[in-house]
Amino acid sequence: MEKTFLMVKPDGVQRGLIGEVVSRFEKKGFKLVAAKLMTITDELASSHYAEHKGKPFFPKLVEFITSGPVFAMVWEGEGVITTSRQMMGKTNPQEALQGTIRGDFGLIVSKNVIHGSDSITSAEREISLFFNEDELQVYKKDS
Ligand code: CMP
Repeated sequence: MEKTFLMVKPDGVQRGLIGEVVSRFEKKGFKLVAAKLMTITDELASSHYAEHKGKPFFPKLVEFITSGPVFAMVWEGEGVITTSRQMMGKTNPQEALQGTIRGDFGLIVSKNVIHGSDSITSAEREISLFFNEDELQVYKKDS
């Protein structure tokens, strides 16, 4: 079954949006297979955001993502990578449609509430950065 990595960022955790975010994905029908509240180290932040190294916003991005607890999650379901990105909305909350998570709860690109993997390759990479295989739960087929 397709899996993706989603993370409520420090702004979302601080503002009490974990429940709202989890609820949206649960109601859509996706299954939560792993979750933890954690503080990201500089090293993990650099690995996770490796593709952005060298960009002007990279230092601030690392500073922000390590600034407080995040809620890291793995979700699974048919088409979860594409659908979860639709549900999150565009990276810049000012461009994100109302009804999406960033459109409803975000204001600026650096504090856009949630991160989600953008492809199968990045989902696999990000899941393995944040979780061990034995932390991923397995649902029985008819549950
Ligand atoms: P995310 O989906 O976590 O992936 C990279 C993050 O960089 C992005 O969300 C934004 O929160 C953050 N970011 C900060 N500044 C910028 C910027 N100027 N352009 C794009 N992304 C930015």
